Amino acid sequence: MLIEPAAALEGHFAVPGDKSISHRALLVGAVADGETRIRGFGRSADTESTLAAVRALGAEVHDAETVTVHGASLHGLQSAAVDCGNAGTLARLVTGLLAFQQGEFTLTGDGSLSSRPMERIAGPLRSMGALIETDDGHLPLTVTGAKLSAIDYELPVASAQVKSAVLLAALGAEGRTTVIEQTPTRDHTELMLREAGVRVTTRPNSVSVDPPQSLRLDAVDVPGDFSSAAPFVVAATIVPESRITIHDVGLNPRRTGLLDVLDRMGARVGILTRRRFGQEPGGDLEVRAAELTATEIDAREVPLLIDELPLFALLAAHARGTSRVRGAGELRLKESDRIDALVDALRALGLRAKAHEDGFEVTGVPRRPRGGRIDARGDHRIAMLGAVAGVASREGVEIEGFESVGVSFPGFHDLLEHVTRR
Ligand code: S3P
Repeated sequence: MLIEPAAALEGHFAVPGDKSISHRALLVGAVADGETRIRGFGRSADTESTLAAVRALGAEVHDAETVTVHGASLHGLQSAAVDCGNAGTLARLVTGLLAFQQGEFTLTGDGSLSSRPMERIAGPLRSMGALIETDDGHLPLTVTGAKLSAIDYELPVASAQVKSAVLLAALGAEGRTTVIEQTPTRDHTELMLREAGVRVTTRPNSVSVDPPQSLRLDAVDVPGDFSSAAPFVVAATIVPESRITIHDVGLNPRRTGLLDVLDRMGARVGILTRRRFGQEPGGDLEVRAAELTATEIDAREVPLLIDELPLFALLAAHARGTSRVRGAGELRLKESDRIDALVDALRALGLRAKAHEDGFEVTGVPRRPRGGRIDARGDHRIAMLGAVAGVASREGVEIEGFESVGVSFPGFHDLLEHVTRR
């Protein structure tokens, strides 16, 4: 796919529903009593994997514009083989729910997911009593339902997926489970469990869950996915004369680290109106092009923009000075090794980037990059980075493996074309 240079980005639009929240609404809906209606469900290859998974596990799903899940009740999931596709969130979170069901379950995934670490969830779940086998730490993974007991668990890595696996297992464990996180990560699971009537106690560095008798969600209103808005926020910032408004975007502070970083860099992003989507904050974002200066990101900030760090690299390439990211070794364990992938992508476009074991640095150039050809490495976030680089370039960017955008945002290219003035 060739993405041509843009004169500006313009217009008002919305992006599809949040992927993290959509996964959680399906999974929590599947173990709830009664019907859960999910409005604004974010349709993508990843969330389709979760929809198929909860069906295979025995929840009835009516798949229309509003997705309706008829829950199987807290202990009611049935034995199944689950194909997680590319979806790490599905693989990690569903394992927590399966650990206390009656039955046997097998999880598989595509090549990328099968190379990602699973012991990070299997370890703590086993210490609750779960019976889990992995293939040398990877998928395929088998779970045999067991009786669980509560634990206090301190996360060794800042991962919302690991935290969520333990909190979901806590629903079926005896006693109160506490997860301690020194570095805050996204809290969509906590918010949704609370919405479902579960007693969730949060303290500055920990969250506890008491096992409920049953859950009930009723309706979930999914805000637009901040991570899908981010490519447009970045494109409108770096393409001169741009001005866009993105409506109804999720603005959970554990997700919007990119806005703080943009602010430090001198970007012009405003939040016009705020409203709530259930327990989740949201609003409209207005973005205008701006001149940027370099900044630094450390381990504490990393989880707040973990999926936007490839886009940050592109911002840094347009900023005055050298920007640095440290404490982001987790990037090497995503859908691709994102440190190597983003550094290679930037260099292929003639930009100045250098990889570190746990981060990277980028030195800005004062004019539009020429463009060139990049390899998405089968990773949706790298493909979108390439597309934003394309609109901001002089000659365009050819992206190999662009179709991977469908993992999180199938309509990305059409929307980008729609808001681009050439
Ligand atoms: C996610 C958490 C993050 C993020 C992923 C989605 C989630 O992963 O990178 O895209 O929905 O919980 P980690 O928590 O493992 O860093």
